[in-house]
Amino acid sequence: MVPKHFLQFSDFSRDELDYLFDRTRWIKERFKRYEIYQPLRDRTLAMVFEKASTRTRVSFEAGMNQLGGIAINLNRGDTQLSRGEPIEDLARVISRMVDVVMIRTFEQAIIERFAAHSRVPVINGLTNEYHPCQILADVYTYVEHRGSIVGKTVAWIGDSNNMCRTWLQAATIFDFKVHVSAPPGYDVDPAFAAGYDARHLESFADPVTACRGADLVTTDVWTSMGFEAENEKRARAFAGWMVDARMMHGAKPDALFMHCLPAHRGEEVAADVIDGPQSVVWDEAENRLHAQKALLEYLVCGRIKS
Ligand code: CP
Ligand code: NVA
Repeated sequence: MVPKHFLQFSDFSRDELDYLFDRTRWIKERFKRYEIYQPLRDRTLAMVFEKASTRTRVSFEAGMNQLGGIAINLNRGDTQLSRGEPIEDLARVISRMVDVVMIRTFEQAIIERFAAHSRVPVINGLTNEYHPCQILADVYTYVEHRGSIVGKTVAWIGDSNNMCRTWLQAATIFDFKVHVSAPPGYDVDPAFAAGYDARHLESFADPVTACRGADLVTTDVWTSMGFEAENEKRARAFAGWMVDARMMHGAKPDALFMHCLPAHRGEEVAADVIDGPQSVVWDEAENRLHAQKALLEYLVCGRIKS
């Protein structure tokens, strides 16, 4: 049987995502009451990291432990990947030993090759192209604070990176709109943008205009992992794209601010925005834990009848 994977946000239907949000809420409420819930006893998660991580590592490992299972952390340098073992062989081997795998890597093609040779579900913990676990937590966080995201406007300011592309996938599924403002040369890749119509994507040259009327303003680092050689060039190109009070003032009065973190105050976001009253970045980070516990439960156990 082919296992169910979560390699990109669009791998899940609206119905599956709504189910996951219901489970996230249920799991979070029990966790807050210190109630033990261990559907994954004797189950094992393997985590493969080819890039650095704080939140993804801690939320998956803590989440797996809280669900009664264990997590094994594999950093690339400590594995035989670093000595040339093919990713397909790694998939064949570890998927005979564990129940679910999370991978953070470079090109999406790498995780797809892994998944094609895995006997167990594979979760994308970030690739160059997508960050679906983060958007799971972000949409959940929006709904938790403001109710349904259907018909809302999300302003994406900065690099059209893995986070931006995953927001766009979510926009199609939940039917909201993303205003993207990126410096020249950093806009959404035309081949990717071609898959989105004006109901879900609108590009703006000016970031202040992109924020006008937005329900949520969000951004990310100017240089994603793997692109460090472009650091200086990007710092120059993105200079006018720091989310600041002027941009937030143009958004709706009750607009939220999100950032997947780690953040650089004074670069992509002003300190008074990320540390200000509209920011929900700490809830957003915490919800990685709860949303991924729901995801692990779903991928390993299937739907739980309530
Ligand atoms: N947001 C996020 O994925 O954080 P880490 O890189 O720390 O895992
Ligand atoms: N876009 C960033 C997100 C980090 C969580 C990166 O890929 O480095």
